[in-house]
Amino acid sequence: MVEHRITILPGDGTGREVVLEAQRVLDAISNNSNIGFEQEVIPCGGQHFLETGKVWTEGSYEFCRDESDALILGAIGWPGAKLENGDLAGGEVILGLRAGLELYANVRPIKLYEGVLHKVHDKFAQHWQPELVDMVVLRENTEGLYHSLLHRSALKVNGKSDYEPPQLDFPGLEGEVAWDPRPISQNGSERLIRAGFEIASQRSGNSDGKSSVHCVDKSNVTRGCQLFRKVFKEVSSSYPKINAEFAFIDAFTMWLIRNPEWFDVVVTSNMFGDIATDLGSVLQGGMGMASSANIGDKHGMFEPVHGSSPKHAGQNKVNPIATILSVQQMLGWLGNKNNDQELLNASVVIDQAVAEHLKYGKELTYDLGGTASTSQVGTSIAQRISDILSEQ
Ligand code: IPM
Ligand code: MG
Repeated sequence: MVEHRITILPGDGTGREVVLEAQRVLDAISNNSNIGFEQEVIPCGGQHFLETGKVWTEGSYEFCRDESDALILGAIGWPGAKLENGDLAGGEVILGLRAGLELYANVRPIKLYEGVLHKVHDKFAQHWQPELVDMVVLRENTEGLYHSLLHRSALKVNGKSDYEPPQLDFPGLEGEVAWDPRPISQNGSERLIRAGFEIASQRSGNSDGKSSVHCVDKSNVTRGCQLFRKVFKEVSSSYPKINAEFAFIDAFTMWLIRNPEWFDVVVTSNMFGDIATDLGSVLQGGMGMASSANIGDKHGMFEPVHGSSPKHAGQNKVNPIATILSVQQMLGWLGNKNNDQELLNASVVIDQAVAEHLKYGKELTYDLGGTASTSQVGTSIAQRISDILSEQ
């Protein structure tokens, strides 16, 4: 039996609680199939920094890079956890891995499952059909407005010194000026956009069955976005069956809420994708439902889109489904990478178990209108996974 080496980075707050449910799901799969998982947990993050003075023990980055087949991350960020230079404590973990392992595509599905109400407004909740919300947003994950911090974090995990962007003169500005450069490269754009078209080729389109990739940018204003759009046009010409569409980010946020059925696959730059996917989560029932995959050519890290949620931490009450769906993305990615049908099947089974749980299950966390705990939801979904696998 092949053992897949899964490294788990719980991080902060509720991240520590939801990864336990990811582990429960992995156990359910390995107990009912020929798939084996070797799980290693590495404590890390801002809380860990406050407790121990380090964001993780030395060698952790190398372990993630060299001794792991895939990574699961809970959440990073804790009030008051800042490094001396003002950077987020724990940035080395989330951003160091994204940049260091070249996880250039942050793949964030926005899908509304049957039985779940969207959160645009309670009054409209009943008037929305799940089939209208089923898209995937790809957020560029290694450059853009995050570039300086990403680069600093990557240098740190590699034991090198700090990086500060060059100091420039800004005509017309006086007094102290802080700035974050937003470099966008041909290469970084191309690999992300290509990943978007590849995903679109494997999907069955939007709710009208139309396959498309939307280029979401602000190319009427910024040069980086002009380059991104130029590269998009070049890449799109090798995918004649997929419609190449365009939207400016400001208008996109409006259409996302007003006409989510228009969208199949969306590609966008780093910060726009960060913001748009939090907004998109209201279409899918909230942050407790939003999963993500950070994918590169060699490595993958899988994490819920939500943060550490300090106000809910330690209460075993947040929704673990975003994390469980991130595990589903992980097994799909590992299955494709290794050409392993059993892993691909396990990924489909997780999706089926979540869908059935949401349609028929009684255990739901507070955000979905229930009173169940994190572990009750995780246990119930893990049980469904075991049942489906043992009947196969
Ligand atoms: C996310 C988060 C992170 C980001 C933070 C925690 C650095 O908001 O994964 O979306 O901004 O990328
Ligand atoms: Mg975010």
